[in-house]
Amino acid sequence: MIHGGDVYTDGLLKGRELIDYSSNINPLGVPKSFIDNINEGINSLTRYPDIQYRGVLKGLKEYTDCSEEYFVLGNGAAEIIDLVIACHKSLLIVVPSFVEYEIDAKKWGCSIEYSYLKEEFNCKDSLKNEYAQLSYDYEDILNKLQKVEAVVLGNPNNPNGNIIDKGEFQKILEYCESNNKVIIIDEAFIEFTGDSQHSFAESVKRYKCLFIIRALTKFFAMPGIRFGYGISSNEALVKNIKGKQNPWNINCFAEVAARHVLKDSAYIEKSKEWIREERPRFLKSLKSISFIDKVFLTYGNFVLCKLNGLAFEKGLAFEKGINSEKLYKICIDQGFVIRKADNFRGLDKQYIRLAIKDRSSNEKLVAMLESLRE
Ligand SMILES: Cc1ncc(COP(=O)(O)O)c(C=O)c1O
Repeated sequence: MIHGGDVYTDGLLKGRELIDYSSNINPLGVPKSFIDNINEGINSLTRYPDIQYRGVLKGLKEYTDCSEEYFVLGNGAAEIIDLVIACHKSLLIVVPSFVEYEIDAKKWGCSIEYSYLKEEFNCKDSLKNEYAQLSYDYEDILNKLQKVEAVVLGNPNNPNGNIIDKGEFQKILEYCESNNKVIIIDEAFIEFTGDSQHSFAESVKRYKCLFIIRALTKFFAMPGIRFGYGISSNEALVKNIKGKQNPWNINCFAEVAARHVLKDSAYIEKSKEWIREERPRFLKSLKSISFIDKVFLTYGNFVLCKLNGLAFEKGLAFEKGINSEKLYKICIDQGFVIRKADNFRGLDKQYIRLAIKDRSSNEKLVAMLESLRE
């Protein structure tokens, strides 16, 4: 499995319900504003969607404060990622990161450079010292950009959840703007940071080099609706992407979702309150698990952890040298799916990623992990 979210193989297909810690979806679930208006979707099934998606664009404009002509709509963020990468011959990928960047680049025959995140120690911020930190290597990105047409990076980055430091990034932004390079920033998880200042959507107006990717998938808990969007003031790039798309790629239910959930301020506020409370609590409890060596500071709704490889006893079985593979199997037996992180470039079998969910599920997971003592 190259992605999280496989609740089927060891779960539903065997008649078992597993608690999914491998995909990072807001536990507040589908917004009521979508459910209350779902009939609009049913009533419009017999006609084609507006091929210009004017209602959706109006909603996006209000949500992001960006002009309607800056948007390109996709069947999930995945379609936008694929098509924006397809527009380039060479790409710098900041890794470890969402595996589709590399898969798409290879599919389109793009030549690839990599810039690895680096572990940061002794930060000025005490919270940052409490947890491990993987940060962008801004200098390395700037150097390697000279060899490529575009760079792609996550903000927050999956799987570790760090965010771009805007001060450090300014040099990269100016360089790309003056040298016709494209910066693709995947903001699929941006709302979980709780602060819109962390987004680059606002800078799209000033910088044509920016291309931002977002979706309803994670924060609005709708991976099944398949709705994502790109934002850029680079008319040529937006036109190029649109030229590669099929007409009516957004179905009528996704259209209804986009028109309603983006203005559901009650859902948005409640979700931000949940992550504000649950993230520090969950991180702290993971730190106390004996076989977790490092918990990485995150601004998203997921946490990267490094296992320390120590032996621990589980029931009668004595597992020597725990790694993600062994832990995955134990968790499945206990009713949980976790994300093995070894297929992220730069990580190995010592790493796992866990979603942050509702209080009760988090407590169950932590209690289960605690029960697997050394
Ligand atoms: C960083 C990142 N971007 C994009 C996506 C894909 O999102 P979507 O389901 O909207 O295509 C994912 C899914 O896991 C992701 O982790």
